[in-house]
Amino acid sequence: MKDKDKIICLTGFMGCGKSSVGRVLAERLGCGFTDLDDYIVSREGCSIAEMFKDGEKAFRKIELEALKAYMDSVQEPSVLALGGGTFTIDEARSLVLERSRSFYLRTSLECIRKRLGDKDDSRPLFADASRLYEARRALYEQAAYTLDTDELSPEQLASAIIDILSS
Ligand code: S3P
Repeated sequence: MKDKDKIICLTGFMGCGKSSVGRVLAERLGCGFTDLDDYIVSREGCSIAEMFKDGEKAFRKIELEALKAYMDSVQEPSVLALGGGTFTIDEARSLVLERSRSFYLRTSLECIRKRLGDKDDSRPLFADASRLYEARRALYEQAAYTLDTDELSPEQLASAIIDILSS
């Protein structure tokens, strides 16, 4: 197995299903699963919303450090669900593109709003979803693979990813 094949990263907008697809995928591959947000929360000992009280820039710094720590410590093949904003950090995006196989779960904003509603207190930036969605699109598309998710279940998406990995 090439080093790059060891980590599978899932990126995409808040609510696109990174964690649910990641969990199913890891189970099917028989490997570990990490949600970067949870990893950050356990490192910092406080919630994402609390971290945002010091501003987005402060959160991105914490997020980048956590990603580096994860990448440097992971030994076994594993699946990592990134945060919706991880790809907006140039250094984080480069790290993911260099050191993992990356998949963008592309979900329409309409579908995301159906899942999350108009407001989500655990996601401080969701209030600005329309603007962020447009601004981030091109960044997410830098992932190695893009999968359209609106019509697919987490199980179907995990199968699609496994097909790509084994081709
Ligand atoms: C963010 C997405 C969140 C979390 C934080 C910032 C973003 O992760 O990292 O609230 O900037 O899009 P999810 O995509 O898992 O909700």
